[in-house]
Amino acid sequence: MALTLQANSLKMTRSNFGVTIMSDAAKKASLNFNDKNIDFPVYQGTLGPDVIDVTSLQKQGTFTFDPGFMSTASCESKITYIDGEKGILLHRGYPIEQLCEQSNFLEVAYLLLYGELPSKTESVRFVDDINNHTMVHEQLRSFFNGFRRDAHPMAVMVGVVGALSAFYHDSLDINNPEHRYISAIRLIAKMPTLAAMSYKYSIGQPFVYPQNHLSYAENFLNMMFSVPCEKLALDPVLVRAMDRIFIIHADHEQNASTSTVRIAGSTGANPFACISAGIAALWGPAHGGANEAALNMLKEIGTVDRIPEFIQRAKDPNDSFRLMGFGHRVYKNFDPRAKVMQKTCHEVLEATGQGDSMLFKVAKELEKIALQDEYFIQRKLYPNVDFYSGITLSALGIPTSMFTVIFALARTAGWVSQWSEMIGQPGHKIARPRQLYTGYTQRDFVPVDLRK
Ligand code: CMC
Repeated sequence: MALTLQANSLKMTRSNFGVTIMSDAAKKASLNFNDKNIDFPVYQGTLGPDVIDVTSLQKQGTFTFDPGFMSTASCESKITYIDGEKGILLHRGYPIEQLCEQSNFLEVAYLLLYGELPSKTESVRFVDDINNHTMVHEQLRSFFNGFRRDAHPMAVMVGVVGALSAFYHDSLDINNPEHRYISAIRLIAKMPTLAAMSYKYSIGQPFVYPQNHLSYAENFLNMMFSVPCEKLALDPVLVRAMDRIFIIHADHEQNASTSTVRIAGSTGANPFACISAGIAALWGPAHGGANEAALNMLKEIGTVDRIPEFIQRAKDPNDSFRLMGFGHRVYKNFDPRAKVMQKTCHEVLEATGQGDSMLFKVAKELEKIALQDEYFIQRKLYPNVDFYSGITLSALGIPTSMFTVIFALARTAGWVSQWSEMIGQPGHKIARPRQLYTGYTQRDFVPVDLRK
């Protein structure tokens, strides 16, 4: 069996999903399998490696085997591009650093959804539409009483976001672009309200209604921290930091939760159910839970003099301990989000007078030592976004149990954009992976009396 690539010339073609993409007729992949030669088209994206279209393979009675989808592009997308070797993250072509510096979360959400930055008029309409949907159905408030006060806010979010589909029957026709728009708006608008409600419920304080004269980030912080008996004045530095955290987490290509949203959506499930599935996938510690783990690790280290001990443990092959907030599956140079987060972290600690805190001293020193250490250099282990976001969120007064909820809130913009892109593509198919079966071959049923 041999898989080869040969050369020809570029032409426009339609993929098996009906999407027009560049096909490199110059490059053709051929597989010699079971004494048959099978040819596959090769597609060229605008960026990134060439991709071999193996969809015709099942007609030959065989499949590819790729657990974890390490070598599989599951979809064609125009939303986000990552070059892990160069440390590049682009949304619709715009570098994440520029978006964090010059844009705001709602503008980025619009960009992800529609492909272009909004004009002034489009921006006003979009923000108005979001503001029109920030409140949740009053009946939904009673859902919260069904949860224990000590329930993890992510457990609450999985439930209440999925429950939204019971309230908005008027916009569940996924084949109607107007319905898709209104569902996307409802989800982006209501996530901060629901997230803050899940926090307030856990601490026994009254829910705070959204205030539409506030910005998206300001509104969220107000719903989190204001109480009816006192006015809350929010420092613009902290509001800006919150907004940046939202931008940084808005989308990240076909990660586990986004793929979950797409797979759920491929069945025709409604968007609220799909986003709820995404929240469930994000909850896992290997995905959304790492910033909490990074913060806990810094607290455990406690003082600068204990750093060498933990570095030693991270390097020991017989110790399962890893430096949380270091390394990335895709970024093998640096995580561009980490650079933005580092700067934001400094600003927040300065504004809150925590710049000299032991936690931050430990973080800075740990980063310095790890970046000079051969073990980390050789393995390309750089601080990732979670290294700084945990400290920043904590300095903003956000409890660790809410970190992943905030991630979900922000990622909703990416999830709905990816879902909407998929539904809008002609000929999209239900996701149905195959398997390499290694169980029993066929055997006859044994009555219970005759079983050993
Ligand atoms: N500390 C110490 N050693 C590490 C670490 C670490 N954080 N990460 C990887 N290594 C070592 C690992 O032991 C292995 O060494 P060796 O070659 O000697 O066996 C080598 O580096 C390669 O590791 P890997 O597990 O094959 O790398 P991966 O790309 O599969 O893992 C990772 C990526 C993020 C799971 C891993 O780096 C890790 O566990 N990091 C800590 C957790 C963390 O911060 N996760 C957040 C990631 S960002 C989330 C997001 O983008 O949303």
